[in-house]
Amino acid sequence: MNKTTQLIDVDAPPKAQQASQGEPTRANNTLKRSAKVWFIVAVIGQLMFAVYVAGFYWLSALQGNFAKWEKATPKGFVEGDVMGNTAMIMHMLLALIIIVGGPLQFVPHIQRKYRKFHRWNGRVYMITVFLVSGTGLYMVWAKGGIGGPFQYAASTLNTILIFWFGILTWRTAVQRKLKVHKRWAFRLFLAGSGVWFARLGFMSWVMTHVTLGYDYNTYWPHFYNIWSFGQFVVPLLAFELYWRTLEKSSKTRKYAFTGLLYFLTLLTAIGIISVTIAMWIPRLTG
Ligand code: HEM
Repeated sequence: MNKTTQLIDVDAPPKAQQASQGEPTRANNTLKRSAKVWFIVAVIGQLMFAVYVAGFYWLSALQGNFAKWEKATPKGFVEGDVMGNTAMIMHMLLALIIIVGGPLQFVPHIQRKYRKFHRWNGRVYMITVFLVSGTGLYMVWAKGGIGGPFQYAASTLNTILIFWFGILTWRTAVQRKLKVHKRWAFRLFLAGSGVWFARLGFMSWVMTHVTLGYDYNTYWPHFYNIWSFGQFVVPLLAFELYWRTLEKSSKTRKYAFTGLLYFLTLLTAIGIISVTIAMWIPRLTG
């Protein structure tokens, strides 16, 4: 197997083995297709997040209108707090690189045809994700984050995971252990998308309650605490189960997991629609 093939489809069994597998291969393909559908939906949602970050944070920064940020950042700018204000500006502006650059790393066509770009985009992504999560952690602990001990613990754990996954993604790329590299890279992508998953979850909670005529405030504090961890634990757990099911499980489990992935795709789509309607469009047009 040459290097290019290893980069593209590390999970694919050799051709001869595929032919003799019959039904399990069909189950594998069905499962892989459901993962692809989730990924496409997620990329659309991340692009919408990118449009929001560009249109809200970048545009107002270029216009010198940092006061607009007060609408979206609970702790805002503090006069004389050079470190805190700089961390916030870096965090919000550099975020765009992560949101746009992350998904591109997993597009097979780019991996195959533009390998130099894949390498450079990977390096830029990695440095940026460290800077953004580092400044995020500073904002939480030095500026004072929103929420209570659950949110402090969750955002600290999220940062630790980002650094851990980032270092292993880098190391396995240098060692050319490409199958393992691909897995660590995807874990990094999921942990680095915690902020996006958080908003999807919070806004779908609000939107589904409003749509069904329930008061979303009743259990909000509990959901807020749970989803502060869920925003990265649920996607990471789903990914671990996905590749284990793909490699080791019976075909019944593969089909069952395919169903679960389509259900998660539906939830992701509901989250994207909710956050776009309830948060991003009002802030962009307000
Ligand atoms: C590494 C990937 C991350 C990206 C791409 C990212 C991106 C963003 C963006 C775009 C916002 C503004 C959101 C809005 O306007 O609604 C934001 C807010 C914020 N981020 Fe991050 N962030 C990341 C990681 C983190 C981490 C790991 C922490 C904490 C340890 C953190 C702490 C914060 C805080 C405190 C805010 C302001 C409050 C809030 O809106 O929740 N971020 N982040």
